[in-house]
Amino acid sequence: MISCSAPGKVILFGEHAVVYGKPAIALAVDRRVRCKMSKANEKTTVNGYDINYQHHSYILKCIEKTGVSDPLKITTVSDLPSGAGMGSSAAITVSTLGGLYNLKGFSELESIAKDAFQIEYEVQGGASPIDTSTSLHGSAVMVYEKEMNNLLWTIEKDGKVWNVHHIKIPDIHIVIGDTGIGAPTGPLVEKVRRFYSKSNFAKEVIEDIGNLVLEGRKALEEEDLHKIGKLMNKNHKLLSILGVSHPKLNGLVKAAKRYSYGAKLTGAGGGGSIVALTEHPEKVASAIEERGGTPYILDSSKNGLKVEQTSK
Ligand code: MEV
Repeated sequence: MISCSAPGKVILFGEHAVVYGKPAIALAVDRRVRCKMSKANEKTTVNGYDINYQHHSYILKCIEKTGVSDPLKITTVSDLPSGAGMGSSAAITVSTLGGLYNLKGFSELESIAKDAFQIEYEVQGGASPIDTSTSLHGSAVMVYEKEMNNLLWTIEKDGKVWNVHHIKIPDIHIVIGDTGIGAPTGPLVEKVRRFYSKSNFAKEVIEDIGNLVLEGRKALEEEDLHKIGKLMNKNHKLLSILGVSHPKLNGLVKAAKRYSYGAKLTGAGGGGSIVALTEHPEKVASAIEERGGTPYILDSSKNGLKVEQTSK
């Protein structure tokens, strides 16, 4: 038996633009997906059901990629809301790959990073490695086509290059506000791709987001929370222009901003969640609740993929 866990993530800056090689910054959060697996007799099951593509696409792809052919009894437990922009599919993918690779006696992080990205790319029909790499590494990660200090690994696909770096960020209080509107990532990535391929204006917006992320990195280094907040607000506006916000996301951003340095949608948008940076997490949580959202006061997680238990 083996049990692995991997954290969810919050994107502070740069979602969507990162698909086009622009920089993005995300941190791992202290909510995780746990995946337990042991050998089974006849067939592979997930949480008691026969494995099938409709419900277990990420897990099935993990099994295909690692070439594990023995039947398995797989159990997943998650304290991450799914479709909330908090990286639950990345955490499922990373924790499952962790288990499968360990069964094979192999656990090289760079290979897991590449497989996890490829799986998200295939299931969603497009992706960058930000979600999967943050879940795998933990702490905080900056993904960028240019190589910088503290490189973890490099992932390439279709002529695009993403260098994944560890970055240090200050201790910050973040609050998530979940709209409760489930929004799968794939269709939103595709929506932006259509806009991007037809419009120079969309390309400029993506470029502006990229520049803002570089400013954000500097503000994080300088621990300038006011600047970080301002840039989060600006990032939200640019994402709205790209067409991935939602009236409920805008409402939660507005409510959270009263007690925050800044707030923005996080992840693919279209629903899902906002993230706010604040000194007053409880006040922000109440404001989110009053506006009809579900708040989560989160800490960052130093740990990425963890092997929690192994036995024969
Ligand atoms: C989703 O959490 C982030 C997106 O940028 C997609 C991706 O980078 O894979 C929208």
